[in-house]
Amino acid sequence: MSKFLQLFHPFPLKVIDGKGIFLTLEDGKEYMDLFSGLGVNLLGYNHPALLAALSEPFPMHLSALLEHPLKEEVAGDLTRLTGFDKVFFSNSGTEAIEGAIKFIWKWLERTGKSTERVIAFRDSFHGRTLGSMTLTDLLSHQGFPKLDIKTVFLPFGDPDILTKEIEQSCSFVIIEPIQGAGGVRIAEPKFYKILSILHRELGFGLIVDEIQSGLGRTGYFLSSQPLGLNPDIVTIAKGLGGGLPLGAILLKERIANAIKPGDHGTTMGGNYLSLRLSKVVIKKIKELLEHVKNLDKLLKDIHIPELLTNPEIKNVRQEGLFIAIELRKDNADDIKEILFEKGYLVNSIRKKIIRLLPPLIISIEELEDAVNALNEVI
Ligand SMILES: Cc1ncc(COP(=O)(O)O)c(C=O)c1O
Repeated sequence: MSKFLQLFHPFPLKVIDGKGIFLTLEDGKEYMDLFSGLGVNLLGYNHPALLAALSEPFPMHLSALLEHPLKEEVAGDLTRLTGFDKVFFSNSGTEAIEGAIKFIWKWLERTGKSTERVIAFRDSFHGRTLGSMTLTDLLSHQGFPKLDIKTVFLPFGDPDILTKEIEQSCSFVIIEPIQGAGGVRIAEPKFYKILSILHRELGFGLIVDEIQSGLGRTGYFLSSQPLGLNPDIVTIAKGLGGGLPLGAILLKERIANAIKPGDHGTTMGGNYLSLRLSKVVIKKIKELLEHVKNLDKLLKDIHIPELLTNPEIKNVRQEGLFIAIELRKDNADDIKEILFEKGYLVNSIRKKIIRLLPPLIISIEELEDAVNALNEVI
């Protein structure tokens, strides 16, 4: 009997090797991974630049009590690419959200603003630790204790309800600009515009969770960049450490100025090796943005309209390489299994949705092959 407490439903074969967007499993077959290790392997498997960075000697761990230039370098890269002023590193996505909540909280308190009412969204996912869970609609029925803050969950994408609720009272808003676990949900431009105007006029805090949508997935370094949102805090994680644990909280100066030493901290967040890989990842993402934009256009012009003619498909939601195919029947798991037999790894959510998060390095030919296989199986 397995000694590992299995809490997921893994594919039935063990991984032997990986290269590019392909994994070799113990049946000797190659599988195209269209889910990139839950959205982490932006550069696919065994990328030579990451292997090279791993093979150089490194000083193991340098604690937060020692300065090291890599922290400054990666923070500098991130601020230049995003327009934020400061960066604090974490080990994971959920830990970045915890830090973001603490930072916004101290800013609210120290600037005399109310901490009474937080606005989050239905179908949101922000992580599995207790603070993140308090703001996560998808896990709200699990019966764990919640943070002591009143959180209201609004329908994602409804500008009228958003306006009414924010005008009633709002300490801060937390939002995934494109909801990931919720099924790649994208709102109309008007929704983001209204959020941005209300944020500017009313002065509440705005946390944008880009843990799944960011890092080049939509063809922009942050998916919120073209949406006109001007958040106080952005969280990123997943592929940031090139497969090693790393998250980051990006802060505007006005928030960072309200935080004092001792308010927050971490032992392993921003560890040396993760940061070394993240330098490589960030550089490669920058180079791949144009490629993802080209794939986005190809999908929007040709492949999504084609998929939408399939009578079994109800809807396709897509931005760059962030893709959800919503089926008419509850057969997403069956489709996932048939695709697995044919050599494609995809993810299914809530019976009706197939979610794809391919590595950013996927070629035009590989993407077209994957979309055609999917269409045929569906
Ligand atoms: C939008 C979003 N926020 C937060 C998280 C939590 O990240 P982690 O699993 O690294 O804790 C996830 C994970 O999937 C996510 O998609």
